[in-house]
Amino acid sequence: MAKWVYIKDIAAAVGEEVTLKGWLYDHTDKGKLQFLLLRDGTGTTQCVVSQKDVPTEVFAAAQNATQESSLIVTGTVRADKRAPGGHELLLSGLEVFQLTKDYPITPKEHGIDFLMQQRHLWIRSARQHAILRIRAEIIKAVRDWLDGNGFVNIDTPILTPSSCEDTTTLFETDYFGEPAYLTQSGQLYNEATIGAFGRVYCFGPTFRAEKSKTRRHLTEFWMVEPEMAYVDLDGCMEVEEQFVSYIVQSVLKNRKAELQTLERNTERLEKVLPPFPRVHYDEAVEILKKKGLEFKWGDDFGAPHETAIGESFDRPVFVHHYPTAIKAFYMEEDPQRPELCLSVDLLASEGYGEIIGGGQRTSSYELLEQRLEKHHLNRAAYEWYLDLRRYGTVPHSGFGLGIERTIAWVCGIQHIRETIAFPRMLERIYP
Ligand code: 4AD
Ligand code: MG
Repeated sequence: MAKWVYIKDIAAAVGEEVTLKGWLYDHTDKGKLQFLLLRDGTGTTQCVVSQKDVPTEVFAAAQNATQESSLIVTGTVRADKRAPGGHELLLSGLEVFQLTKDYPITPKEHGIDFLMQQRHLWIRSARQHAILRIRAEIIKAVRDWLDGNGFVNIDTPILTPSSCEDTTTLFETDYFGEPAYLTQSGQLYNEATIGAFGRVYCFGPTFRAEKSKTRRHLTEFWMVEPEMAYVDLDGCMEVEEQFVSYIVQSVLKNRKAELQTLERNTERLEKVLPPFPRVHYDEAVEILKKKGLEFKWGDDFGAPHETAIGESFDRPVFVHHYPTAIKAFYMEEDPQRPELCLSVDLLASEGYGEIIGGGQRTSSYELLEQRLEKHHLNRAAYEWYLDLRRYGTVPHSGFGLGIERTIAWVCGIQHIRETIAFPRMLERIYP
């Protein structure tokens, strides 16, 4: 058998006989010519089967090949500008590993519920493939940037004895007779590991029992969380804008074909370069009022508010100094105005809303003690976290970037459910 190559590499094999292994994506029957569009995970290419050039049984197999049949084909690579991808294969041999019958997803329109139910197969389609390929690129960019900028990857636990964010969104599990919770965020542990490494990040799945059915919420999502010792709110924003710009620019550079498949207009993404505008919460409230939106100072922003603020700028925008009362217990307070805290959210451009939450953490033992009480958190479970304020406390900051929301924004898609292979949502845990 000829050498097995992947479709992404066929440009280097022009004139050679090669073997491709994949699945039939589409089939066009032109009588004596059969066009088989083969995909192998790395790309798609057209295989041309000519009746006069191949044995009868090979031609018959090509004629009968059905959508999503698994095929092993041999042929000569030819450059052809008209062919999808710029190359095609003049087929000489064809082995059908399985002839697929009644593939459920056909080129006709299917409803979203049906497609979600068929998610294990739907991921093969060009659009879903492009989104998930971009996801992998984003994750690579995340790691490359952090690893290259002095952050040490320290993974934090999934099973935890206490809460980091809102206690109403905890998934409880039974840990040998004791309650334990699936992690909402690795942040508290990162605050410990900076004491050993200075700059760290954790990156993994996080869980929120969100009873909300929105296009921005999953119950299981991936979050990357950098944390930095001796860095204040301003320093945190500087890191965030560098980081996010690198991620977006990497996708623009390395995933052009996928962005094209998604018909993503990349004009606005090209502008995602530092510095990002910085807007104080007070100012953000003014923006909303000017735009005629109903909003009371002190409230948290809902999706329409975030969209309105985000759309006022040509690139992602930081909103900082939120009211202390609407943010998590660990936020540092503004020394001049304790009713505000040193928190910062990053709102993506084009109305996509919050993709990052973070800010400066309280370094004071006394304030932390008060906050635990105020938030009705069980002090015993946080004794270790209080230790971090007992033994060499430092000003420190960090943030969490939601991977799926970032993907939705970069891909320009409306719903977060398509940004992960197997989404977990309020009403979905299958497949
Ligand atoms: O704003 P959040 O809740 O912040 C934290 O968890 C901090 N402890 C992070 C830190 O400072 N280390 O979540 C951070 C980000 C959000 O901006 C959003 O992008 C994403 O995580 N996120 C979700 N993504 C999908 N589905 C959900 N239910 C999400 N909840 C938060
Ligand atoms: Mg948040």
